[in-house]
Amino acid sequence: MDRMADVPLWPAVASAHAAEVDWLVISFTGLLVLLVFPVFVALPYLAIKYRRGSKADRSHNPHRNIWLEASWTVIPFALSLVFFVWAASLYSDLFHPPQGSLQINVVAKQWMFKFEHPGGQREIDNLHVPAGQPVKLTMISQDVIHSLFLPALRIKRDVLPGRYTSEWFQADEPGVYELFCAEFCGTQHSHMGGKLYVMEPDAYERWLEREGTDLSLAAAGERLFRQLGCSGCHGESAVVRAPPLNGLYGNPVPLASGNVIVADDRYIRDSILLPKSQIAAGYRPIMPSFKSQVSEEDILKLVAYVKGLR
Ligand code: CUA
Repeated sequence: MDRMADVPLWPAVASAHAAEVDWLVISFTGLLVLLVFPVFVALPYLAIKYRRGSKADRSHNPHRNIWLEASWTVIPFALSLVFFVWAASLYSDLFHPPQGSLQINVVAKQWMFKFEHPGGQREIDNLHVPAGQPVKLTMISQDVIHSLFLPALRIKRDVLPGRYTSEWFQADEPGVYELFCAEFCGTQHSHMGGKLYVMEPDAYERWLEREGTDLSLAAAGERLFRQLGCSGCHGESAVVRAPPLNGLYGNPVPLASGNVIVADDRYIRDSILLPKSQIAAGYRPIMPSFKSQVSEEDILKLVAYVKGLR
């Protein structure tokens, strides 16, 4: 399928998912041509044969073939269903990143994408990833709705203010590909984007080292955790009783409302910004909101820190 890259105007193909999306589009187009072709042949033929004044036989055929009539409804329907199932399973794949995916955070704003690697390396508009490894993007916007579009991977997802969205991919072909914002987000929208660099894993390691930062995302989160005073209540030796955070991530949390919620990225973000909305069972609603004190990037660091508390 990578030979599709030789077709002029056909976008580059950098992942198995992209190749499969291409097959889906090409074969569905093929099916539509197959179904529509007889109609377009019959149309001029019948128009000419039964034109006004022609001597064609216009009497009704007394014999009906119900099987023939049913077949041209049922067969195209069944064929289209095959594509429905195929497309739906491809789409649903996008929501199930494999365990152990490399986690990269994306914060979008007018008009740039900010990417953060787990080691704390940051880049703007360009994204470097290793080839052959699944990468999960956790994305949020600081202002309006943006959309991260990676055409070579055939994936695109909206980046929303106030809510995490995510997408994942495994790019197998090293190379440099396009990266766009695909949602009109203001005057500079058309300039929002950069390049996706898919690198050999050892080249990616060297790149990380070159970019090197002293603090990993989780370590930066831990520092914030102290600076903001979170440790005063959630810390090991805290006097105020607040829910402990060790081993919290990914586990169910019983709420005062009687509901049970899984502590994921969204739950942690909401707990920092809207602490009154999800009170853990057995605790009083005394935590203040940190809305005015933390940026989306800070929150992603805090999430990375809480994630690491086992
Ligand atoms: Cu951001 Cu368009």
